[in-house]
Amino acid sequence: MSDDHPAVETSGLIKRFGDVRALDGVDLTVPRGAVYGILGPNGAGKTTCVRVLATLLRPDGGQARVFGHDVRREADAVRTRVSLTGQYASLDEDLTGVENLVLLGRLLGHGKRAARERAGRLLEAFGLTEAAGRQVKNYSGGMRRRIDIAASIFNTPDLLFLDEPTTGLDPRSRSQVWDIVRLVVAQGTTVLLTTQYLEEADRLADRIAVIDRGRVIAEGTPGELKSSVGAGSVHVRLRDAARREEARGLLARVLGADVVLEAEPVALTARLTGASDLNAAGASSDLNAAGAASRALAELADAGIIVDDFSLGQPSLDEVFLTLTGHPAEDAGGDTEQEAA
Ligand SMILES: Nc1ncnc2c1ncn2[C@@H]1O[C@H](COP(=O)(O)OP(=O)(O)O)[C@@H](O)[C@H]1O
Ligand SMILES: [Mg+2]
Repeated sequence: MSDDHPAVETSGLIKRFGDVRALDGVDLTVPRGAVYGILGPNGAGKTTCVRVLATLLRPDGGQARVFGHDVRREADAVRTRVSLTGQYASLDEDLTGVENLVLLGRLLGHGKRAARERAGRLLEAFGLTEAAGRQVKNYSGGMRRRIDIAASIFNTPDLLFLDEPTTGLDPRSRSQVWDIVRLVVAQGTTVLLTTQYLEEADRLADRIAVIDRGRVIAEGTPGELKSSVGAGSVHVRLRDAARREEARGLLARVLGADVVLEAEPVALTARLTGASDLNAAGASSDLNAAGAASRALAELADAGIIVDDFSLGQPSLDEVFLTLTGHPAEDAGGDTEQEAA
């Protein structure tokens, strides 16, 4: 095929629910062949965005194209190219894993033998061979999530939407789902993944759009987003706690940074301010950070202050979110404040 359209292209996309603008002018370009992350807190508009792109909701304004097909005017063409986990392929709780997948394959028009073969391969790839003969209603949360994804790629889609695929899963199940996402992408499917987890977007996505209140507030590679808040932090542990005040003054001067004394009496952390420009290139500020850190290390040595441990840490995506939105990711939903007792 000669089409070279991006997997997804939207401009000014709007979706209202009554007074709520769930999508308030979303501009997105999702290139083919990678994992694209939409990162945002509860209520940001992630599911609405996915449902519009999957043609399950009609937008109220703006444009959205999937592989060049308009989601309104060419919805059928879009549907042949995409799959949305848990939507197009719903499983029967009373059937076993293998029965579900074989049935699905038959419904998709495969012969009995081909359906069995594909089901077997998917169950194996997703670590579900042992559970294949069990009813899906008895699956754990992680197993259920995996078989949902298996079902949604029975016929390999060009674009797979994964809407918060690991929300509520324990760490082990989460990393199993991550492995599956990597497997799906390796087979040529573009994955558009939504997540509330900064770590998940960082680990999986080649590019990330940060979405807040129906708008894309930042876009770039994980490295670009992280460097947009600053160059990172320098962590230092001294041999001798008595030299800490001196080290603090030296680091503040050399790095031009705020230096925080940690609870541990030998430890200090300097927050590098770096680039405050949100579109700063990641590479240059990484270089600046490394350069500044090595100058600081050299001056500590010159002053005879012994350093036992020294590290340069990138800022977390949590810090990115806070910088971009002015509020932490955890309580960005507004109406979901849960004070722990
Ligand atoms: N069917 C609906 N009816 C009314 N409001 C909705 C509906 N779906 C979503 N919303 C509202 O739209 C906003 C975005 O929701 P959603 O896309 O589900 O966010 P997310 O998936 O990021 O948590 C929220 O304020 C939500 O309450
Ligand atoms: Mg959602």
